[in-house]
Amino acid sequence: MAESTFLWFLHQPTSVDWLKRELATRRPELRFAFSRPGLTTFKVELGYADDPPASSFARAWGRSLGRAASVPEVLALLEPMTTAPVRLHVFERDPDRPADERDAALVGTRPAALERALREAAPGRFLEGAQATDGELVFDVISAPSELPDDGLLVGWHRHDRSHGPWPGGVTHVPIPAAAPSRAWAKIEEAIRWSGMEPRVGERAVELGSAPGGASFALLERGLEVHGVDPGAMAPEVLAYRGAKGNRFFHHAMPAAEVEKRAVPRPIHWLASDINLAPMIALRYVERFVALARGTLRGAFITLKINDDGIFEALPRLMSRVERLGAREVRYTQLPSHRSEIVAMLAW
Ligand SMILES: C[S@@+](CC[C@H](N)C(=O)[O-])C[C@H]1O[C@@H](n2cnc3c(N)ncnc32)[C@H](O)[C@@H]1O
Repeated sequence: MAESTFLWFLHQPTSVDWLKRELATRRPELRFAFSRPGLTTFKVELGYADDPPASSFARAWGRSLGRAASVPEVLALLEPMTTAPVRLHVFERDPDRPADERDAALVGTRPAALERALREAAPGRFLEGAQATDGELVFDVISAPSELPDDGLLVGWHRHDRSHGPWPGGVTHVPIPAAAPSRAWAKIEEAIRWSGMEPRVGERAVELGSAPGGASFALLERGLEVHGVDPGAMAPEVLAYRGAKGNRFFHHAMPAAEVEKRAVPRPIHWLASDINLAPMIALRYVERFVALARGTLRGAFITLKINDDGIFEALPRLMSRVERLGAREVRYTQLPSHRSEIVAMLAW
């Protein structure tokens, strides 16, 4: 297998400084190499490259094989790695604008065309489908955003495990349906796809900071009973929602600290938090509801708003608090539809 001395990290262009600063602490062996908006690479001594962790601001990461400008050049980089069929992930970097403000007709068109050309040029070389499974070798091909001029390709690979999202680039932006009351619909759907943690029909979720209701709407559509905690107004379509299996929404129209113990249903299988307060405060409410769930949680999606440098610098302390929630596994990423925020994904 070809060895490489470079790692690449896919991230939102605006998060580059935080990504670099976090990696400087977590992975001091990395030396900044080169970057494009949304993609940063580092040089690393052989032998270190496979070790997690990545950065909480990285949506995808792996080793680099080099740059390419054409389909034959991409295939030439794959050639020495393996002769067995590999998982192919072709994806674009994020442009410097929020995912939900991009031209939906253009998003993803460049990687889609490139993937078709690669599969046609090398039949049988790539596995069918995009979702990576544990242990699989994933061949990553990264292009410029479809709405910007072509500036060549970065080609790399990673070995899939739970420190990576299973889809190209970890996860791609999930377009928000017209019926969804807010962009938080995409935030929860992307977190579900990145983490592979799938809420099931008939389960119950509590969302802290649920108004106007994009995330609650997504969970209702997935067949869950949803309890939203928010003094703000919920969208009428969320309040009136009745699912095929009778699942519906319950509004606790008050701040999270004021919900009485006996008003909290159990079991709670899923906890989502999207409170627009500093995470030092928002985590208090998360801690309270994890305790109220009394061991019934399967998973949690906790948004951490990182509005300034002070919060960025507090991240290690905030992460220790998230650790102490007692989940078996905690992972972090910044999703395509995030602004100044990251998500902690917890599994019990
Ligand atoms: C980003 S919005 C939530 C969007 C929502 N998740 C959705 O899917 O549409 C943040 C929300 O946090 C709520 N919030 C702020 N402080 C809160 C508190 N102490 N308890 C509950 N909700 C709070 C605000 O009222 C606001 O509606």
